[in-house]
Amino acid sequence: MSNIPTPHIEAKAGDFAKTVLMPGDPLRAKYIAETYFEQVRCVNQVRGMLGYTGIYKGKELSVMGSGMGMPSIGIYSYELFHFYDVDNIIRVGSAGAILDDVNVMDVVIGMGASIVSDYPDQFDCPGHLAPLADYHLLSTAVESAKELGTPVRVGNILSEDAFYTDRQNSKDCFRKMGVLAVEMESGALYLNAARAGKRALCILTISDHIYKPEQLTSEQRQTGFGKMIEIALETANR
Ligand code: ADE
Repeated sequence: MSNIPTPHIEAKAGDFAKTVLMPGDPLRAKYIAETYFEQVRCVNQVRGMLGYTGIYKGKELSVMGSGMGMPSIGIYSYELFHFYDVDNIIRVGSAGAILDDVNVMDVVIGMGASIVSDYPDQFDCPGHLAPLADYHLLSTAVESAKELGTPVRVGNILSEDAFYTDRQNSKDCFRKMGVLAVEMESGALYLNAARAGKRALCILTISDHIYKPEQLTSEQRQTGFGKMIEIALETANR
């Protein structure tokens, strides 16, 4: 492993577990490690993108922030897959609901990621390659959610570069196509996993609604977040 440390990660070879949970916010990574892991050690602090490795129910797991957007998760997931020998990345994040029957607090699992970004251009595939979640992780997450008694929606999600956009009604076409929710990272993660021959999954908590004036309170945010993390941890542990 000649490429480590990388420009963005100071961890040494073997510092990451085979499975890494990735919230967007590095302080969420710290919270997850301190709340759910035993024998926690910090493995990255470069640019404040905190990463930790510890033990969850007897198995080694890691958690690290991804930052916001496809360029950011693109860098970290590439380095974890290619240089740190990570096999599975499970993003745990928030998303804005697009469909009327998806509500704040719902947990959504991204089976596929539609993309509004030039990020896929680098792979030089003609036409439109469909970025997908890993089926093993996806089916394990659905089973885990059932066992935990947490209802989940599984389907297409939208990954966009622009949170603030000048384009009017930019989600309408995705709404017509049944896309559940919008976030900003899953597309790059799924593409990087596919290119690396590795596995990825995105589990999301709905924090707001694109078409309704709904937003999570901070208490709801924490509860919804906890359910999503439990699903991710159980998925990682199987
Ligand atoms: N993450 C949470 N809510 C979002 C939204 N409305 N758009 C993009 N990403 C989000």
